[in-house]
Amino acid sequence: MSTNPQARPAFGTVLADEMAIATFRGGKWSAHEMRPTGPIEMHPAAHVLHYASTCFEGFKAYHWADGSVRVFRMDKHIERLRQSARLLALPVPDASQLADMILTVIDRVRAQVPEPPGALYMRPLLYGTTPNIGAASAPPDQATLIVLASPVWDYFSGGVKPLRIYVEDKKHRTADHLGMVKTGGNYAAAMGPTLAAREKYKVDQVLFCPDGSVQETGAANFLLIREGHILTRSLDSTFLHGVTRDSLLAMAREMGFKVEERLFDVAEMLEWVKTGEAALSGTAAVLAGVGTLVHGGQEHKVGNGEVGPVTSKLRAALVAIQNGEAPDTHGWTTRV
Ligand SMILES: Cc1ncc(COP(=O)(O)O)c(C=O)c1O
Repeated sequence: MSTNPQARPAFGTVLADEMAIATFRGGKWSAHEMRPTGPIEMHPAAHVLHYASTCFEGFKAYHWADGSVRVFRMDKHIERLRQSARLLALPVPDASQLADMILTVIDRVRAQVPEPPGALYMRPLLYGTTPNIGAASAPPDQATLIVLASPVWDYFSGGVKPLRIYVEDKKHRTADHLGMVKTGGNYAAAMGPTLAAREKYKVDQVLFCPDGSVQETGAANFLLIREGHILTRSLDSTFLHGVTRDSLLAMAREMGFKVEERLFDVAEMLEWVKTGEAALSGTAAVLAGVGTLVHGGQEHKVGNGEVGPVTSKLRAALVAIQNGEAPDTHGWTTRV
């Protein structure tokens, strides 16, 4: 694969050759089968196509220098998919079966796992298939679970450059009880405001702060950072409980940082960034520094407008564990 960043395919556009698939019928999951990655047959009355009964996960497997492949925090992502399924009244996948599907896919496409800074992005997907167009308020009793894999390089096409973020202080990203569910409808809800802000303010992403309370962006969590101190929103149902967020907070605590998880508003954030840093965290973005916040027609530089030194330090510490260059003292990685 080329090392020229210009020549690398965009995140998510290339899929590995094989996928795993299992179906839920009559109250139980079938054994999974491996298939070449490709189109699936679906009844046009399938529940998901009408009532959006679907959720998914996203995490990475890394190619270590010793030749092994390791998945990062697989169990936590499996639990989050199971929680999403429960909250959407979808059949809940069996944790050990899903782990088996993930590890089998990685093993079968091992040769397609890119070298760092690339990785194999894993995308388990669950959706309701019951053919019934009169089931708007009835959960599906048939479902399909698929595990896809995708070799990835850079998420933000420009690489590590400071992000420009629009601060949306009125609109909600999604319904407050669904924010913690990783479901397609949340991304559909955020799409319109994100496209509008990109067009109007030339930003990369939108930070949703409904009623002035800072939450998250369309596909990443939000952290305020300075040396020895992190402030981020406390867990509630309104936003996705990021595994990257959880990992960074655990590491920061061990590095002696004061880690504050609480609600904070736009005014406090704008005060913080006069001298502090801000960053987005997520599997795809890792920890991406914010350079500018656009709010109320005004531009607010975050620090000096560049990716901050503490952000870079935390990002490097996490990437080192993911790539096997620093010891995995938490048992976060699974060998495939
Ligand atoms: C809405 C949203 N918030 C946060 C995250 C970050 O979550 P994680 O760190 O588990 O990838 C993601 C990405 O997966 C996301 O889609």
